[in-house]
Amino acid sequence: MERTLSIIKPDGVSRGLIGEVIKRFEESGIKITAMKMTYLSKKKAEGFYAVHRGKPFFESLTDFIASGPITVMVLEGEDVIQHNRDLMGATNYKEAKPGTIRADFATDIEKNVVHGSDAPETAATEIAYFFSSLEIVG
Ligand code: CMP
Repeated sequence: MERTLSIIKPDGVSRGLIGEVIKRFEESGIKITAMKMTYLSKKKAEGFYAVHRGKPFFESLTDFIASGPITVMVLEGEDVIQHNRDLMGATNYKEAKPGTIRADFATDIEKNVVHGSDAPETAATEIAYFFSSLEIVG
């Protein structure tokens, strides 16, 4: 069993896509073991995306993720990090496979609806950024 962090970004929340994203997770057998609505301050956003500091899109990315409410979830399942990435599709929605969340709903490379951890180490760090172990069920 593996865990990963999923974020429905401000574009996904404001466009009413929370239910759609959760439906895709549940229908594909992924278990949601923690979930909440929250905001990231600009400072918290910079901490979350620290690996991207210095990249040309860092300012814009952290402004955007701090621009409105987000939904954060812990997902659990076998190989769930890759499974979630398969459901999301490529970061650039133009390269995402048809039927993926980003191919279906993203409007640009930044407003790409969802975020998912990319490896076990980042999953552990990202989950701890939002949830204490007591908030995760199962
Ligand atoms: P995410 O999976 O949340 O990780 C970093 C985010 O930076 C990415 O999704 C995109 O939303 C955003 N981003 C903006 N521009 C770029 C870019 N040129 N390359 C990669 N990610 C980008």
